[in-house]
Formats: sequence, structure tokens, C-alpha cells
Amino acid sequence: MHNGRRAITFGLSSAVYFNMNTNNLLTNLLRCGQQYMKFSSVTRRYASIAANPADKDNTKPKTGILMLNMGGPTNTSQVHEYLLRIMTDRDMIQLPIQSTLGPWIAKRRTADVQKKYSEIGGGSPILQWTNKQGELLCKKLDEISPETAPHKYYVAFRYADPLTDHTLDRMHDDGVQHTILFSQYPQYSCSTSGSSFNAIYNYYKTRELPSGIKLSIIDRWATHPLLVKTFAERIKDELAHFPSAKRDDVIILFSAHSLPLQVVNRGDSYPAEVGATVALVMQQLNYCNPYSLVWQSKVGPTAWLGPFTDDALKGYVKQGKKNFILVPIAFVNEHIETLHELDIEYCQELAEELGIEMIRRAAAPNDHPIFIDALTDIVVSHLRSKQSVNPKFLTRCPHCINLNCGASKSWYAKICKT
Ligand code: FES
Repeated sequence: MHNGRRAITFGLSSAVYFNMNTNNLLTNLLRCGQQYMKFSSVTRRYASIAANPADKDNTKPKTGILMLNMGGPTNTSQVHEYLLRIMTDRDMIQLPIQSTLGPWIAKRRTADVQKKYSEIGGGSPILQWTNKQGELLCKKLDEISPETAPHKYYVAFRYADPLTDHTLDRMHDDGVQHTILFSQYPQYSCSTSGSSFNAIYNYYKTRELPSGIKLSIIDRWATHPLLVKTFAERIKDELAHFPSAKRDDVIILFSAHSLPLQVVNRGDSYPAEVGATVALVMQQLNYCNPYSLVWQSKVGPTAWLGPFTDDALKGYVKQGKKNFILVPIAFVNEHIETLHELDIEYCQELAEELGIEMIRRAAAPNDHPIFIDALTDIVVSHLRSKQSVNPKFLTRCPHCINLNCGASKSWYAKICKT
């Protein structure tokens, strides 16, 4: 039975420590708040630049890196519109009479979601993190690959500013020669990455791709060695905080956003790709601790992929386990699911309820130097390869019934041919 703890939809570079002592709880709540404020003061600078670097200078980029992600509301007044876009996106979610039911659900959930964003500082940090990653990435690319420089990153969010259509307009205005559509979801799902790629296809349904413009695609990178190393380093950082007598017994729970079983059973590759990342991270760590892959953020009454993160904690506590690390394994930035669902709902509230001795949450990759190296290597390898699109991307799920997927993939096959 899942209570009102369920997070709403997909939302600091800091682990949250919790142990079962009220003073520590207060200390940790304060610490969490201080870290958020520290982060905010650094990153507000990015937010004030508007949404995309195209606003900052007039350099004509040879290579554009279009960073695709779902985005998040930067303040609570954007929450309703954000939810409305999600609830009416048939790639993300399929509802009966969606044009009526989607807006109704968005309206009904707005206040609750606004409250959650208020509790993590007033908005999602995803734009700030993406801007920071993009800046660091392009700086490295200019050094390593001068033949494809200057590089410029652009942010294309699906449900919040900067929206994909507006960013594509901006890229055309900038005259970018080669655009790399770079999914910021390491593991591919038709509900997330697929939705972004379909949105780009929908944009070009009503206009021509300017002649001389090249598009290519990085659709998944779940097993990249430097991504794996980033997660391993994040886990090692957290393990070091446990007393040495308990360290070997800490259970590592890799937590990823769940999917409806209906989506899993149509052949979505996300669960297998998340599992691949987890296996490689544990191999990198020499299988130092017990671990499990669990799933979070279920919404609605239908069946979703489990076991769920909160249920897994309850189950392990029943088995006598008392020490845990939660690792967000499928999203590269802090967002509401890490800052609220994992940090507040599980590491604080649920841990207290269950009598957990110690639980820490590994930070998302964010701006970890190894993660920036991962992004750089992925793009450089792509630029130097002869493959502008992965054949897997061009193949629909075995039980796909979304006609737009078929049309979209045919268009990409034509546009991305070398
Ligand atoms: Fe996966 Fe259409 S749902 S390709």
C-alpha cells in the first residue's frame, strides 16, 4: 500500500545524512537547507542568464549540443503549466480522454506539487545544473576537438522553459552547422528520451530543416565507463561516512524512476539499461556491498515496475538491516525526486518511522569532474565516429502502438544518414 508519500513527477549536490536522533534530524534538515542555499547562490547566476547560452553571445557555433531533458519548474508559479504539459503528452503518459482528463489531473495536483517544490527551495535546479554541465562540456570540447569548434550547448526541455521548440528556433537563428541531439537520460525510455525526440520531429513536421544543416543523435549511454565511475565515486564518498564496523553491511539501493508495466511490456529498453548501469557500477566497486535495484515515483492506480524504493526499505528493515545508501541511478541532476522523495520522504520521514540507524543519499552526477569527462568523451567519440544515429534508436519497441514513433523514426533515418 502506498501512501501520500509518492512523488509527483520527475526534481543537491549533497548527500543527506540521517540517523535516528531528533537532534541529528534537526541538524540534517538545517544542513540540507544550507546546502540548497549555497547551491542556489552559485547557480542563480545561471538562471538569470535566461534559459540558453544563445542569449549570451553572438558566436556562430560550428557544433551545437542540444541537451534534451524533461526540465522542471524554476518557481512554483510554473508548476501548473509544467504538469499540464506532462499530462497531455501521450509519449509520456497515456490516459483515456486525455485532452480532458490530463488538464483535470494537472489542475488537481498543482497545489500538492507546489508545496513539494516549496519544500526544496521553491523550484527545480535542473536548468541550473544543465547550464553548468553545458558550459563545462563545451569548454572541454573546444580544447579537445578544435576541428569541430566552436561548440555551443543549448538546453531543450520537454515540459518547462527553455522549451524544445523555442530552442530549435534559437539554434536556427544562430546558424549552427551540425547539431548533436544529446539525450541527457543515460538510459533510454520511449516515455522520456523518446518524447523529446518525437517533439523535435513534430517541430520539423511543419517546417523544412534548413539546407546544409546536419543532425546526429546520441540517444543512450547507460554503460559509459566514466558514467559508471562517477556513480562509483559518489557511492564511495557516502560509504566513507559509515562507521567501519558497519560499512560492509550497508545496503546500496539503486533507485530509478519506475514505469507502468504496460510500458515495460511493450518492450521499452529502460529497465534493462538501468540494470546494465547498476551491474557495471557494482563491478567497478568490486561488489563491495549488498545491493538492489529498486524503483520510485509510482503514480496512479495501475501496476508499475517494482520493487518500490520505500517498500524495499521496509522489507530490509524487517530482515534486520539498518544501514543504507540510496543512489539515484537514472537522472544526471538533482531534481524533485532526489531532493524531495529520496531526501525528505525516505531519508528523513520514512527512516525515522522505520528506526533506520543510518541512511545517506548519493549525490546525482551534477558537476562531478569525472561526469563532465564522461559527457565530453561521449560527444567526442560521437563526433569522430561514422555513425550519426544508433540503429536501435531507429527501431520501434516490439509492441509499439504509437504511430508517431513510426513516422518520427522514419524521418530521423532519412535526416541523419551520413
Ligand atoms: Fe517505443 Fe513507440 S513506444 S518506439
